Amino acid sequence: MSETERKQQPIGIFDSGIGGLTVAHAITELLPHEQILYFGDTAHLPYGDKSTAAIQAYAVKICDLLVKQKCKVILIACNSASTAAFDLVREYVGSKAKALNVIEPVIAYVGENFPDKNIGLIGTKQTVNSNVYRKKIDDLNRNITLNSVATPLLAAMIEEGFFNNNISESIIQAYLSEPALQNIAALILGCTHYPLIKYQIDNYYKGQVAIVDASQIVAQHVKDYLESQDLAAEALTKDHTFYVSDFTRSFEASTRIFFGREVQLKHYPLWE
Ligand code: DGL
Repeated sequence: MSETERKQQPIGIFDSGIGGLTVAHAITELLPHEQILYFGDTAHLPYGDKSTAAIQAYAVKICDLLVKQKCKVILIACNSASTAAFDLVREYVGSKAKALNVIEPVIAYVGENFPDKNIGLIGTKQTVNSNVYRKKIDDLNRNITLNSVATPLLAAMIEEGFFNNNISESIIQAYLSEPALQNIAALILGCTHYPLIKYQIDNYYKGQVAIVDASQIVAQHVKDYLESQDLAAEALTKDHTFYVSDFTRSFEASTRIFFGREVQLKHYPLWE
């Protein structure tokens, strides 16, 4: 493969559904020359309530497709899958692609910006119960205290289109009023669906708490990686492709909200 061909390989991104499109969108904004190959595992949504073993099995199947399509990077744009399957994915794809996740760039950001502070985290049960954020933040040795609360209704609520309305307001308020999420300097949005309710969360805290949105941070991390390896694409020569493992029209409509523009989904079942 020539050097130009290597640079023009797509970036593979996957999530349990359409949440990872918040990250994919940030990447297309920051890196407009990159072709995206997105996989939403809508047949198995939500990942947040699944066992680690199940998420690992889905992730391996998805990586088979992304490797076959010659992705130079495979980004797990889902916190639940990043906690359950990142080490396995990295080993599985080996030298065929660079495996990245949405957690490590956020940990580095928090370490730099919030030493000696109390920080909150909200995410799925899988993400919070795995304790991955806590372990990685403790490893930084920056005297950061992390208070985590599982907020399992939020991703489902957003998928159903409930954001910026009274129902989402009440659910967000019920979760954020947990004592563990008071007196914090920053709140990590530990689920790629949550950027869609970022403004409601910001309103709840009256702008007094920094809201850590992974999408921008991860997009910058991908850019830094590509540039450091001289792997950044020089021009967008092929369309982005969006696969889902289970197709519904309503999903196609929601993808527009997550991605911020028209998207056509292709049906690709993981198991025939
Ligand atoms: N987007 C997924 C994440 O970041 C959560 C949704 C799910 O439970 O599948 O964890």
